Amino acid sequence: AILSGRPRDLAGRRVVVSAGGTREALDPVRFLGNRSSGLQGYALARAAVARGAQVTVVSANVTLDDPAGATVVRVESARDMRDAVLAAYGTADVIVMAAAVADFRPAERSGSKIKKTSDEPDPIHLTKNPDILAELGALRRDTGGPGPAVIVGFAAETDDILANGQAKLKRKGCDLLVVNEVGENLAFGTPDNAAVILSADGPAVEVPRGPKDALAHVVLDLVAPRLA
Ligand code: CTP
Ligand code: CA
Repeated sequence: AILSGRPRDLAGRRVVVSAGGTREALDPVRFLGNRSSGLQGYALARAAVARGAQVTVVSANVTLDDPAGATVVRVESARDMRDAVLAAYGTADVIVMAAAVADFRPAERSGSKIKKTSDEPDPIHLTKNPDILAELGALRRDTGGPGPAVIVGFAAETDDILANGQAKLKRKGCDLLVVNEVGENLAFGTPDNAAVILSADGPAVEVPRGPKDALAHVVLDLVAPRLA
């Protein structure tokens, strides 16, 4: 019986969703972070559970209630998230990178609290973080063997959404790229989202402004047939 009114088209599938925003430590008390709330990632996790999946959420600094029925792995930084996502890579059928991953981190992490010893602050030097999504795509391409059947990325673009999105989809080697339309009180921290979902091998799907739960189900509607 379809109790939830949703198809159980992900029954028995292993779905990994990253959610939230990474924090990159400067010292024991300070970090560089971003405004991601984890709402969209948690909505995806709940939607996948509702459709019968075994769901692991790799959760970076999210203060929401755990999605019922999912396993939550808590991480702080991009490198922590990479380790947790790669640990699940081998058994995942689907990986959705909904998290906002810091592109850079402070090149040095001070072991003790940085003091304001002089009037002029020292500059913060940054170094590149691993690109987890690109690594997943490259791993699958290079091994050619088992790996997640579906890899989904997210992106927030302000200009040339379609052109930038298609280029990003190719660069990352993912199957679907959910491009959020940012601005107008959308995306970060809001209950609503609007998006265009780009596909490596099919037409773009436009999702009008609506609850993040609804967008989550549209994403999974596109994921499920790729698992057949
Ligand atoms: N991503 C990732 N690891 C990173 C940065 C991003 O896995 N170090 C993932 C995000 O989780 C998202 C996708 O890549 O699913 C796109 O992130 P985005 O920031 O839009 O792309 P970037 O390649 O970082 O490009 P830019 O920030 O310059 O637009
Ligand atoms: Ca980025």
